[in-house]
Amino acid sequence: MKVIGVVGSGQMGAGIAQVAAQNGYQVIVEDIISAALEKASIAIDKSLGKLFEKKAIEEDPKTIASRIRFVSSISDLAKASPTLVVEAASENIELKLGLFSELDREMPKNCILASNTSSISITKIAAATRRPELVVGMHFFNPVPIMKLVEVISGLATSDATRSTVIDIASQLGKTTVQSKDVPGFIVNRLLLPMINEAVFALSEGLGSAQDIDTGMKLGTNQPMGPLALADFIGLDTCLSIMEVLYKGLGDSKYRAAPLLRQYVDAGWLGKKTKRGFYRYD
Ligand code: CAA
Repeated sequence: MKVIGVVGSGQMGAGIAQVAAQNGYQVIVEDIISAALEKASIAIDKSLGKLFEKKAIEEDPKTIASRIRFVSSISDLAKASPTLVVEAASENIELKLGLFSELDREMPKNCILASNTSSISITKIAAATRRPELVVGMHFFNPVPIMKLVEVISGLATSDATRSTVIDIASQLGKTTVQSKDVPGFIVNRLLLPMINEAVFALSEGLGSAQDIDTGMKLGTNQPMGPLALADFIGLDTCLSIMEVLYKGLGDSKYRAAPLLRQYVDAGWLGKKTKRGFYRYD
């Protein structure tokens, strides 16, 4: 039986769990916050319902959802003997280092430990374990059931076997992979976040309204969402933390976060999840 563990049941964790279950895996989702597990379960049911309605999946959503089990401790997750665990906790380095050290202690010896980090060094995360050759980056994109890409990131010690196993698994999940070096932001966020950050500078300089900036980029460059709406969708706190990783890790002032982005985060205007960012979602 193929078992995948997912640590963290936020938007990304729930999406990864759903896609794995859709593709026949047994999935165990771990989160210490039980309300987050309940929220994930509801989001998964809703998303599966949508996909079924438009015939994007054939299997009964209830059967798919029945492959997902929710637990509240890493030790309960370990009891299911997963062959791969994908960590999708908050983008906080101390938290991730602690989690990987715990996963290393608890998971079966051959279990691959992947991180869905969007910018933190895989080499550093791997160094928190005694199995750095089995630690790898698997970066999914939001909304996971819709977005086709997984970035695969090898740390300094990641083995070729680990890399090719996760590429195979991503392909079984219906995803296309690209491989990136372990440098801050990897490929996609290295390009995407400076664009979003520049849109915030443009807004603060009065270059155009939020609507004009977004409509300009949507219709002028065929993006599904403008950069400010996308920032709200990703979460302004996440955008700020990725800019900080780029700035610190690459040491170039061109990656400095727009002061207005920092101010919005200070105000608690984090985008869609707090119902206010560059737009309002009441
Ligand atoms: N589950 C199932 N279906 C979903 C869904 C989900 N979670 N989210 C959206 N959909 C479906 C909708 O039902 C809809 O289906 P139909 O077209 O059949 O009606 C379709 O997707 C489009 O959705 P909407 O009509 O609601 O709105 P939209 O056309 O604006 O699409 C979107 C929404 C797919 C999010 C699209 O706007 C988009 O692709 N935006 C860009 C997303 C993006 O760039 N993501 C990457 C962010 S960066 C990241 O994740 C990495 C990081 O590290 C920061």
